[in-house]
Amino acid sequence: MIFPIFFTFSLLLSSSLASVKDFCIANYKSPEGPAGYSCKKPAKVTVDDFVYSGLGIPGNTTNIFKSAVTPAFAAQFPGVNGLGISFARLDLAVGGVMPLHTHPRGSEILLVAQGTIIAGFISSANNTVYRKTLKKGDIMAIPQGLLHFQVNGDKTPALAFVSFSSPSPGLQILDLALFQNDLPTELIAQTTVLDAAQIKKLKGVLGGTN
Ligand SMILES: *[C@@H]1O[C@H](CO)[C@@H](O)[C@H](O)[C@H]1NC(C)=O
Ligand SMILES: *[C@@H]1O[C@H](CO)[C@@H](O)[C@H](O)[C@H]1NC(C)=O
Repeated sequence: MIFPIFFTFSLLLSSSLASVKDFCIANYKSPEGPAGYSCKKPAKVTVDDFVYSGLGIPGNTTNIFKSAVTPAFAAQFPGVNGLGISFARLDLAVGGVMPLHTHPRGSEILLVAQGTIIAGFISSANNTVYRKTLKKGDIMAIPQGLLHFQVNGDKTPALAFVSFSSPSPGLQILDLALFQNDLPTELIAQTTVLDAAQIKKLKGVLGGTN
């Protein structure tokens, strides 16, 4: 029931490749470069390169954030390579959050397919917060590169589908960038003004070291 809606708005997004050739199905035998993957030989392309079935399955929300993102970026979905678009599924269990994160290479449109989601982003100009409680059928635009979040706003699971203006929009989650690597606690304390005990606690929970 939700599929016609999100395919329609996907098609509205711009295409960066169209002026050169019809398509460039990702060839995973070579690495992804700044312009995407190289093209699979046209003779080997089939309709299945343009179809991705992975978003029908709920993501695993058994984690600290009680949420799951299932991407259909160029790395998973060869058909979007070079087209300037991609897609993802977001599952938020009851109490689930998608913590502050950015997509450095793409703007986003979020469509709430089920439940209620509190979504917001923070402007880079003066840190103004733009936030709204979205219900089923609402869509929200998130400008490229800005920090944003989604929180389940009700007592039922929430489901959203997300389109991006890039085949490889990227995903960087702020908490994981801070607390899931080997950046020394002392340096994090200096650069964030958080206290060391809290940093060590979060490193412990999220798998960071040092
Ligand atoms: C979901 O993830 C949890 C934690 O990693 C794991 O224990 C569990 O087996 C996973 N469930 C499924 C259905 O994959
Ligand atoms: C931030 O920028 C917006 C848009 O220009 C403006 O309306 C708002 O007053 C600004 N807020 C602050 C705290 O400067």
